[in-house]
Amino acid sequence: MIFFVILVLLSCTEAEGLQHVFVLHGKDLHLDTEKPVKLDEHTDLFWRFNSSNNIAKCVFNNDPVVYKKYAGRAEVFGPNYSLKLKKVQHSDSGDYTAVVVSELEQRVAECKVIVQDSVTPAQLTVESVSNSSDSCNLTVTCSTVDFNISSSFRCDGKICSHAGEKDLKATKKCSSLSVYLQQDTIFCNHSNKVSWNQTMKVLKSYCETETGISICVVKTVVFSVGLIIMVIAVISVHIMEKIKKRK
Ligand SMILES: *[C@@H]1O[C@H](CO)[C@@H](O)[C@H](O)[C@H]1NC(C)=O
Ligand SMILES: *[C@@H]1O[C@H](CO)[C@@H](O)[C@H](O)[C@H]1NC(C)=O
Ligand SMILES: *[C@@H]1O[C@H](CO)[C@@H](O)[C@H](O)[C@H]1NC(C)=O
Ligand SMILES: *[C@@H]1O[C@H](CO)[C@@H](O)[C@H](O)[C@H]1NC(C)=O
Ligand SMILES: *[C@@H]1O[C@H](CO)[C@@H](O)[C@H](O)[C@H]1NC(C)=O
Ligand SMILES: *[C@@H]1O[C@H](CO)[C@@H](O)[C@H](O)[C@H]1NC(C)=O
Ligand SMILES: *[C@@H]1O[C@H](CO)[C@@H](O)[C@H](O)[C@H]1NC(C)=O
Repeated sequence: MIFFVILVLLSCTEAEGLQHVFVLHGKDLHLDTEKPVKLDEHTDLFWRFNSSNNIAKCVFNNDPVVYKKYAGRAEVFGPNYSLKLKKVQHSDSGDYTAVVVSELEQRVAECKVIVQDSVTPAQLTVESVSNSSDSCNLTVTCSTVDFNISSSFRCDGKICSHAGEKDLKATKKCSSLSVYLQQDTIFCNHSNKVSWNQTMKVLKSYCETETGISICVVKTVVFSVGLIIMVIAVISVHIMEKIKKRK
């Protein structure tokens, strides 16, 4: 049986309209123009960062010019004028536009780039265990340095289930925690838009072994004792009859 309950915290606000591009810190960023671009003697193309910083310029029948600040880091490819920014840093987060400039300016690409680090594994800790011979309740907390969620589980014998959420908190932007149960293992998945990492704990080691074994042992003992008594009874009746006959 699989119980699959998910608690999700998401606090990543996305502005309406503008396309968001998430990229892992240190990876390359690729941006395309939204429509085909044709340059001529009077028409150039610029890739810009945060509206006023020029990254590169493309001029009709010439190689693209990459400005000094981006030398070696940025490339523009023909014939579609797509931009490649190598090994992005957090300071590369911001708005990127491609602008075709002639008598008028026309935007042919616009997006918000968000550089994220890969997430760290969350800590999954057992806060409390309360077990009796036939059930076990347990509360875990999944936490990162920024936020945490608590969740309770209940096991009856071999079957464990989610006992509803206890606590929900979100403090870190664009990062989420989810706790779920699969068979007898609790998972906590810490994720953002570019990565995830999962921590797990086997419920059995806190609950099932004691209760499971004790019930099993008791049943076996009761059954064995009963069987032995029955066998002894049958044998004694037999022996008694034989003794009677001899007499
Ligand atoms: C634009 O050209 C580059 C290099 O030739 C290629 O990698 C990229 O996929 C192209 N983009 C589109 C939208 O065709
Ligand atoms: C670029 O603009 C974004 C806001 O859109 C801002 O958060 C970021 O600090 C700016 N980056 C630089 C290097 O100016
Ligand atoms: C576990 O919780 C349930 C319902 O909240 C309760 O009925 C049961 O007695 C609890 N078991 C233990 C061992 O605390
Ligand atoms: C409950 O669990 C604790 C710790 O695992 C164990 O020491 C104890 O014997 C258990 N109690 C019962 C009634 O199973
Ligand atoms: C969970 O977060 C709260 C504040 O949001 C904090 O007081 C508490 O200590 C945290 N718990 C853990 C286990 O990190
Ligand atoms: C963890 O969460 C992320 C984002 O929701 C998801 O893409 C990923 O598949 C999850 N991992 C597992 C093992 O469920
Ligand atoms: C989770 O984090 C650990 C420690 O940082 C790392 O070794 C592991 O590869 C990560 N797992 C995933 C799926 O990224």
